[in-house]
Amino acid sequence: MADIRVPQADPKAGYLAHKAEIDAAVTRALDSGWYILGQEVAAFEKEFAAFESAAHGIGVANGTDALEIILRGLGIGPGDGVVTVSHTAVATVASIELVGATPVLADIDAHYTLSPAALEAALAGDMSGGAGDKPKIKAVIVVHLYGQIADMPAIAAIAKKHGIAIIEDCAQAHGATLGGKPVGSWGNAAAFSLYPTKNLGAFGDGGIVTTNDGILAEKIRAIREYGWRKRYISDISGMNTRLDELHAAMLRVRLKYLAAENARRAAIAGIYDKELAGLCPLPLRRDAAGHVFHQYVIRRAGRDALQAKLRDLGIGTNVHYPMPVHLQPAYAGHSWLAQGKLPVTEQASEEVLSLPMFPQLTDAQVAETVAALKAALKG
Ligand SMILES: Cc1ncc(COP(=O)(O)O)c(C=O)c1O
Repeated sequence: MADIRVPQADPKAGYLAHKAEIDAAVTRALDSGWYILGQEVAAFEKEFAAFESAAHGIGVANGTDALEIILRGLGIGPGDGVVTVSHTAVATVASIELVGATPVLADIDAHYTLSPAALEAALAGDMSGGAGDKPKIKAVIVVHLYGQIADMPAIAAIAKKHGIAIIEDCAQAHGATLGGKPVGSWGNAAAFSLYPTKNLGAFGDGGIVTTNDGILAEKIRAIREYGWRKRYISDISGMNTRLDELHAAMLRVRLKYLAAENARRAAIAGIYDKELAGLCPLPLRRDAAGHVFHQYVIRRAGRDALQAKLRDLGIGTNVHYPMPVHLQPAYAGHSWLAQGKLPVTEQASEEVLSLPMFPQLTDAQVAETVAALKAALKG
């Protein structure tokens, strides 16, 4: 097998790009002598919330916890249904199960995000595959996949009509917008993962919740640390899901460069768009969307063979995701998961291929990827 000359993602390049500043932030956090929920986390929460135009930020241990803690904060639990997509990281669905609620999976649209029509159908109970009592749907988790926001105007109107909460899964969409309005400001609260390969990545696990609802923010802050409002006194039942001071210090450095790095991702996407036009289906842009290209995803029937050819040519790719959640061994056959009823999702999972995409990718590496792809698509 050829050496991979162009990786699909490269979190170490993100470190090396700002090494001196990140190393200094680590030293500062270590020297402070305060390692849990101190000044660095408080400052990062403020700075990130401002970046997303949100009133409150609450740092947590990872993106899955961010989703779970929002659900807990909204009082969602056993007997409740939460609509989301199956074309996502399994974490989205796992968070619903973690609070004892029932995932109700709906199909996606051509932009790989929740189809408003499918959400309507799920709310109307118009889905087969459910055995047992139909859960009462209390919320929707909207996933802004690959860096592009979902059809939020349509989804928000449906949610309002049915009186359900909106949770945004922004793990892949730090800085994405629609009509200039950022992700994280369309619903009750938003969950961000800070996993190393994300647009804003820690060097380890991390996550953050944003919300404009002060009461919800205060409750989530308490749940984050054993339900404490006052130290050692649990007012409500909680958990331990804290963002470390060390990670917060490093994330504050990376946050300063996020807008420029998102712009570089968009520039790389522009080159792919131009060079690959007409060769295979390319990502569709939603009107007025500020797409932050967490991934640049093309489609190809026989995707696995194309991926193997690219690997032989030294180009790394990835598949997000090869198996929809409702077909995975842990989930297949669960009631209310809509098994076999998600044709757009199932076809996407067979065809999608994520090309190299990270801000430090050079123009020469992009050109090498394009040349390899042109050769592989021909042969
Ligand atoms: C869409 C989506 N949701 C949730 C998560 C979970 O985040 P984490 O891995 O930080 O728990 C991820 C990241 O893997 C993700 O991509």
